[in-house]
This record gives sequence, C-alpha cells and structure tokens, in this order.
Amino acid sequence: MKKTLLKLKPSPWIINQVEIVQKRKKINILDFASGGGRHSINLASNRRVITAIDKDRSKLELYKNIKNINPICFDLERNDKWPLEKESFDVIIVTNYLYRPRIRELESFLKIGGFLFYETFAVGNEKYGKPSNPDYLLKHMELLKTFKNDFETMYYFQGKTIENEVAIIQRCSLKKRPLK
Ligand SMILES: C[S@@+](CC[C@H](N)C(=O)[O-])C[C@H]1O[C@@H](n2cnc3c(N)ncnc32)[C@H](O)[C@@H]1O
Repeated sequence: MKKTLLKLKPSPWIINQVEIVQKRKKINILDFASGGGRHSINLASNRRVITAIDKDRSKLELYKNIKNINPICFDLERNDKWPLEKESFDVIIVTNYLYRPRIRELESFLKIGGFLFYETFAVGNEKYGKPSNPDYLLKHMELLKTFKNDFETMYYFQGKTIENEVAIIQRCSLKKRPLK
C-alpha cells in the first residue's frame, strides 16, 4: 500500500514525553500543523487542553467537536501574525512538519520552563521515500543548533524509525530557559 494511504499512529515518543513532563498539572498544549489530529485526539483530556492549528479545514473538521481541543484554521507560512497568545503554552508539539523561515517564532508561544517536542523527517529519508525535498528534511543536529540560545536540550535522536513506516527522523526535547 502507498505510504500516503496509511493512517499514521500517534508517535509513542511524543505521547510519552507529554506524560513525563505533565506530572499532576493541568497543561496547555499547542499541536502545530496538527493534520488529522493523531496527537491532539490522543492527548486531549480535562487536564490537557489542546490548541490544534493547521491550514487544512477538512482535517480540523475531524476533531472540531472533541472536548478540550480548540482547532484553528490558519496558514502558518504566510506573513500574517499567528493567532496565538505569547507565552501561553506549557508544551508545543510539532510532528512531520518543517517550515524553516518561521521556526524560531515558536519559542515566543512557550512559557518559561515549557517544552518543545519536535519530531520530523531528517536527511537520509530520501532513500526510503517522501519527503525527499531538502526543504522538509532536518540536517544533522539542526534542531539543537536552531534553538540553542534559549533552550536546554533534554533529548536528541537522529536515525531510523520503523514505528509507522521506515523513515529517518530527528526528534528533540527542548526546555525553554528563563530570560537572560
Ligand atoms: C504531514 S502532515 C503532519 C500532521 C501532523 N502533525 C501529524 O504528524 O500527523 C503536515 C500538516 O501540515 C499542514 N500544513 C502544511 N503547510 C501548512 C501551512 N502553510 N499552514 C498550516 N498548516 C500547514 C498540512 O495541512 C498537514 O496537515
């Protein structure tokens, strides 16, 4: 079956990271380019309020009526101001999405001490299929380098996964440092 026809399961790494940092608190999570909602739907609960943002309204429709998910339809790659409040999230998750020109802006929506969990395709994935365009493939250590000034690295991995499909990915857990 073609990869694009397979429905992806949530990333166990993303789900585990959220559980580890949440402890007993109530938290707000931003699912950035949330797609079909595989993480938003899995994570939403009375103790986890999710903002799911994506430009594809038909995907957001799939979970617009689920409690504790606030879907926002928006094109994240235009020059408009993102419809998000500064420092409003405890956790931001980004999976299978990369748009380098605005990636650094993510940090302003994260509270001090909050976590960015990022998992997407990396260089080498072109051997296995799509994406193969370098615009969508992280370079070696790229997430660490991009966020090094304002984040502490809690976890970094680059390599092969067979969780949903064979792919080369990079995943990184970053904690926002207090302002200098
Ligand atoms: C490969 S899917 C990943 C979805 C989800 N994060 C996941 O891992 O299941 C990429 C998503 O990015 C969204 N996307 C692409 N370009 C976008 C843009 N300019 N603004 C907002 N969302 C965009 C697409 O609509 C799609 O849902």
